[in-house]
Amino acid sequence: MSFRIHLSPPDVGATERNLLLEAFDSNWIAPFGPALNEFEALLNETIGTNVSAVSSGTAALHLLLKAHNIGAGDYVLCSNITFAATVFAVDYVGAKAILVGSDSQTWNMCPDSLEETLNWCRKEGITPKALLVTHLYGMPADIFTILEICKKQDIVVIEDAAEALGSSYFGGMCGNLAHGAALSFNGNKIITTSSGGAVCTNNEDHFERMKFWANQAKDNTPFYMHHETGYNYRLSNLSAAVGLGQLKALEEKVAKKRSIFERYQNALEPLGFQFQEEPELCESNRWLTVALIPENEKASVSDLIEYLKALGIEARHLWTPMHMMPLPYLVKTDIDLSGDLDIFVRGICLPSGTGLTNEHQTEVIEGIKAYYQSL
Ligand SMILES: Cc1ncc(COP(=O)(O)O)c(C=O)c1O
Repeated sequence: MSFRIHLSPPDVGATERNLLLEAFDSNWIAPFGPALNEFEALLNETIGTNVSAVSSGTAALHLLLKAHNIGAGDYVLCSNITFAATVFAVDYVGAKAILVGSDSQTWNMCPDSLEETLNWCRKEGITPKALLVTHLYGMPADIFTILEICKKQDIVVIEDAAEALGSSYFGGMCGNLAHGAALSFNGNKIITTSSGGAVCTNNEDHFERMKFWANQAKDNTPFYMHHETGYNYRLSNLSAAVGLGQLKALEEKVAKKRSIFERYQNALEPLGFQFQEEPELCESNRWLTVALIPENEKASVSDLIEYLKALGIEARHLWTPMHMMPLPYLVKTDIDLSGDLDIFVRGICLPSGTGLTNEHQTEVIEGIKAYYQSL
């Protein structure tokens, strides 16, 4: 059965089409060109730091870990509730991931759980070198507290801001809050280049090295010479042209996502749904509206997803917490992560595309109400 109402489909139009055709006609059909330069310049202006576009958010995470010299034998602390690409990047560099639990309000990395995890590390004689913190579904994580805790042990903090372009924290933009950040422009994100991402950093040396690696580590010689392994991670000029059109509308997109969220909240809170709480002085881009369903023995997220599916509406489970994944590079600790499982079991992602019409959102809300009436 195909969906009529999708979770977070791309929302592109004439602006993106025209920019794409312009790039095509200019024959800059390569991972170089004016659209790419313009896209990066606008990202830089939006976030307030050096930004280089790459082929995916996952590639960006990989480059950032490499820039911080994280490699075999190292340990990286990671948000437990995140998309698996966060920990995949840790494996790419041969390091191991240690999972940190989430708080029950924002579902982001919990500073108390971080302290507990660091105590466990001390007991085990493990010294983590870096921490990857996800701004989950666009909600800014408690970065100041996390930075303060990590500073005591010289732990580098990297933001996984894949879902958080346009979100802000105490006036700073997600992507410019720590020692480097990754963005994603995958098809489902707040802006898309079909597939794509970016590295963000204030460290000039890291910036140059990440660009060098992303461009096949070509030495600056008149012939082909490589003294390091490179990666083909650059974004295409054509993709960047689409991204440029999208990025120009970022403010409107954030406003639309937030209004979609508010409408769900107003309609579903009275039924007992609970939403990610936005901390003071933070603004989430509300990339996806996610909620915990009411506690009710007769209801489950899987059933509700199936019920909506029969109506042509796409809803999904939250990211499965990483401690549920049988990946060999995830370190087993004695940290209690059962709260994250509770969030997962009751969590649902609702259709939140910026192209969602009022009528379609009404259908989603009425569909959810009908499910509860059917129990
Ligand atoms: C939290 C998080 N990290 C990393 C990624 C990876 O980004 P990409 O799909 O662009 O590789 C995504 C999204 O897909 C994500 O949601």
